[in-house]
Amino acid sequence: MNVLTVSVRDFQASDIQKQLDYWYRSPAGYLESIGVDPARLPSESEMAANLAKVCGKSEIPAVTILVNQCAIGVHLVAPVVRGESAVFHAHIWDASWRGKGVATRSYPLACEIFFKRFQLKRIDFKTPLQNIGAIRVKEKLGILVVGEEELATPIGRSGLRARCFEWTLSEFENFQRVNRQKPENQN
Ligand SMILES: CC(C)(COP(=O)(O)OP(=O)(O)OC[C@H]1O[C@@H](n2cnc3c(N)ncnc32)[C@H](O)[C@@H]1OP(=O)(O)O)[C@@H](O)C(=O)NCCC(=O)NCCS
Repeated sequence: MNVLTVSVRDFQASDIQKQLDYWYRSPAGYLESIGVDPARLPSESEMAANLAKVCGKSEIPAVTILVNQCAIGVHLVAPVVRGESAVFHAHIWDASWRGKGVATRSYPLACEIFFKRFQLKRIDFKTPLQNIGAIRVKEKLGILVVGEEELATPIGRSGLRARCFEWTLSEFENFQRVNRQKPENQN
């Protein structure tokens, strides 16, 4: 059996180029398909500078997803209200790693870090309705649907509807208790 070892670690400078390639050199039509308006992206040099700042923070709001120790994507929280809540984002850079069960394992690993790091009571997820894969991940993890709203992010397409999910700390801890008892491949 081909076992994937999924882990996360803090986002670091060596990940910046992969993140830039994802945002600026993904296949045509990809960003639109996940609800992003490419015209709203900052310039590449601006994004590179922002990512360098993220790496320099004492509490980094981003973790890199590793499969068999290889960096393949990122989870980040923005905005963050310390002691309260944060909005979670996920991007697997390389299409060949999507749809292989990585996110189902990496979301809880990243959430555990962000809950502790920012003393969050809740993590929010706002997923464009057409993003079936991203919605399915939350359904599989049992993350609660709390409504629907028009997405208002700096880079999102106008008029996009999103399904809103939330994981409260107590629901997340309950998820962890239940899943710790399951063998790795039953996620
Ligand atoms: C969305 C994303 C994070 C999901 O991660 P993933 O590792 O591909 O998801 P998984 O492989 O763990 O899949 C979980 C479930 O979703 C389903 N799924 C994943 N991608 C899918 C797709 N494009 N269409 C339909 N179902 C999909 C899987 O089949 C699986 O369900 P199943 O076990 O019932 O078959 C990843 O695909 C990604 O980075 N996509 C591009 C960026 C993006 O859309 N980010 C989210 C913005 S809100």
